[in-house]
Amino acid sequence: MKKLKVLFVGCGAVSRPWLEYTLSRKDVAIVGIVELNAAVAQAAKEKYNLDCPIFDDLEKALEELRPDIIYDLTYVTVHSQIVIEALEAGCHVFGEKPMTLTREEALEMVKATDRTGKVYNVMQNRRYQKPVRALKELVDFGLLGDIWTINADIFVGEDLASIRNSLEFPMLQDNAIHTFDQARFITGQDPLSVYCHSYNPKDSKYKGDAAGTCIFEMSKGAVFVYNCVMGTEGCNTSWESSWRIIGSKGSAIWDGFNDPVAEIRVPGSAKRIFETVKPQTKWNGKYQHHGCLEEMFDALLSGRMSETDCHDNYKSISMVFSSVDSIRSGSKVKVY
Ligand SMILES: NC(=O)c1ccc[n+]([C@@H]2O[C@H](COP(=O)([O-])OP(=O)(O)OC[C@H]3O[C@@H](n4cnc5c(N)ncnc54)[C@H](O)[C@@H]3O)[C@@H](O)[C@H]2O)c1
Repeated sequence: MKKLKVLFVGCGAVSRPWLEYTLSRKDVAIVGIVELNAAVAQAAKEKYNLDCPIFDDLEKALEELRPDIIYDLTYVTVHSQIVIEALEAGCHVFGEKPMTLTREEALEMVKATDRTGKVYNVMQNRRYQKPVRALKELVDFGLLGDIWTINADIFVGEDLASIRNSLEFPMLQDNAIHTFDQARFITGQDPLSVYCHSYNPKDSKYKGDAAGTCIFEMSKGAVFVYNCVMGTEGCNTSWESSWRIIGSKGSAIWDGFNDPVAEIRVPGSAKRIFETVKPQTKWNGKYQHHGCLEEMFDALLSGRMSETDCHDNYKSISMVFSSVDSIRSGSKVKVY
């Protein structure tokens, strides 16, 4: 069997599920690692028993190995440069979120796929879990009626060691992409406009704005409110966010830790009687990164567009870009 040749670019903390999933596929071979930190690459090579060369230069690795796919697991600040170089060299790219920090670079990345005919899929692992699928199905089947509002609260502790502390808006530019993408996925609605107020609370240990609220108007009339405080002391939410979806027939909540639960008004009841429902799903895909990678490979091998293809993912990352535009202008702006 001819195997697809995969080149890892960046092999840090997040590479573990990428390595585990890739090694589980018989039709894929890991042909190399590009890493600026040789010790990190060597550690991964030994831990996973990989038989492949290590490079510190992407151009050289592309030339020598001619991979079919590169995994971009580097920092957000270099994703656009790496993705475009790999696409131009004739490779498909599966890469970590977020695409990049600016709209201009993201559009260049999308354009590069159109120009080269190659695929660029972005990791949105949070879609691949039962609570999210169950909430999506509850909405899709109309059990909540028309969706009026969707709220996601995220109140988490500090993480000053990561790239978050070098960002101007840590409440938006690293983790929010997960929540924004989930909101689109669950509601099936795309954002039209946003007003964002961001701030850095007194005594916050972050350099950039660690807190803020975004109000999005969505395409079928829902309002999505994202509320974030990073560096919260106590009563923290999950990093998944804590969710509430309110529709014309009922509401659902998911605390990001336990199973979601819904209350749906019993039709025709004169009094306000609610049935408690535990949203279920028949979806039985693999969990988080494994599920997203499986979907990316299925899509590539069957010639269809992946769920998290960059053309779709641009709609999620543009929620970040337009929120930043809103902060800078102090007004409600279009999401585009
Ligand atoms: N999907 C998720 O849940 C999730 C979780 C954590 C991180 N991430 C994302 O994964 C990416 C990497 O995060 P991480 O936590 O693994 O960071 P990390 O710092 O542990 O690893 C990044 C690695 O990339 C290497 N690198 C940087 N620039 C490079 C270049 N030009 N060429 C080759 N190697 C280069 C660094 O040496 C480092 O080892 C980020 O985009 C981050 O947002 C996603």
